[in-house]
Amino acid sequence: MNDKPKIASGLEGVIAGRTSICKIDEDQCELFYGGYSIDDLALNSNFEEVTYLLLNGDLPDKKVLEDFCNKLSAEREIPVELINIIKELPRETDPMDVLKITVGILHTSDPDGTSNTDDANMRKAIRLIAKIPTIITYDYRITNDLEPVEPNARLSFASNFLCMLNGEEPESYKSDVLDKSLILYAEHGLNASTFTARVVASTLSDLHSAVMAAIGALKGPLHGGANERVMEMLLEIGDVEKAEPWIKKALSEKKRIMGFGHRVYKKQDPRNPIIKGLVKELGERLGNNRWFEISQKVEDIVTAEKGLHPNLDFYSSSAYYLLGIPIPLYTPIFVASRVTGWIAHVTEQYNDNRLIRPRSEYVGHERRKYIPLEDR
Ligand code: CMC
Repeated sequence: MNDKPKIASGLEGVIAGRTSICKIDEDQCELFYGGYSIDDLALNSNFEEVTYLLLNGDLPDKKVLEDFCNKLSAEREIPVELINIIKELPRETDPMDVLKITVGILHTSDPDGTSNTDDANMRKAIRLIAKIPTIITYDYRITNDLEPVEPNARLSFASNFLCMLNGEEPESYKSDVLDKSLILYAEHGLNASTFTARVVASTLSDLHSAVMAAIGALKGPLHGGANERVMEMLLEIGDVEKAEPWIKKALSEKKRIMGFGHRVYKKQDPRNPIIKGLVKELGERLGNNRWFEISQKVEDIVTAEKGLHPNLDFYSSSAYYLLGIPIPLYTPIFVASRVTGWIAHVTEQYNDNRLIRPRSEYVGHERRKYIPLEDR
């Protein structure tokens, strides 16, 4: 009898643990956070409430949500030492690397230090979630010779982000689009970055280390980095008439079309209709349908040619472009949102931990005779 374990390349189809944070129903094309459908959350909730849900497992009542929002907005400022470090970094430092570096530094200055209790981790979580948008926008403005704009505790998470980025309070319809996109990005089961965070947590390393590692995993173009590549592609296509030849040429050269395909969803990404609707509406409101039209054309061709469907990154890119957000900030914004899901998973891992340590099948040389250096 052959009892050798089966190899699952890319861990495809492997159930690597249990979770009560998020349910992905790929057959029905549905996604739930803590039992609440992503459609209901995107329609009725906001990012702060979804953050509370992910961290605590339940929706808050009005008073609890108000306290939670106050705690979050009170933690938005970043220490002067951190601002000075951002100023010292080479200008060309990738914003995702800035995030890794600064999250590492926040660990050393966190008042809860190395404590790994639930309460300490909740306080660390609030500080991290609150400060990441400040780091992203300070870094952007410093790098572009603009004065950083201090966080405004009166504004919502999404409005404050746009205000710190542009120096003026956004119109509410714009911050609503960002807010909904943050809800959609917040959590997605054992994707590569969340799995990375859980692997780090499973060694009983600290929360910040798990988040730093997850940022590294998210940066790659097959994961979060795709949203920036999508916009670069749409800009290169530039015109709805050019979409078909551009995509057909890319496919004939065996290139991957960014923003299409998914390891889990083969029929449709349930987040896609929501973000797509938002882009269409936003374009109409701004009198700029160009990016929606090019995107729709690209979608039609890629689906017809390859049977692949857009994932969340595809239309998120046009949404951010229409909001005037610089392209290098698209993946950092993904971090600003997904850090909530990472932390929920890290906490879940700590509370029922088993070291994550798979094995690999050895395919290298069999035993070889060692030849001393002088005889080789
Ligand atoms: N463009 C062209 N061909 C593709 C694409 C694509 N975007 N995605 C998959 N394929 C093809 C692939 O070439 C392969 O074809 P063949 O069997 O002929 O070699 C087949 O489809 C299966 O691909 P795979 O890489 O084995 O499938 P996977 O489940 O590992 O891929 C994926 C998932 C997301 C890595 C892949 O679809 C991809 O590279 N997409 C583009 C990058 C992207 O949009 N990433 C965002 C992912 S979702 C949200 C997020 O995490 O940010």
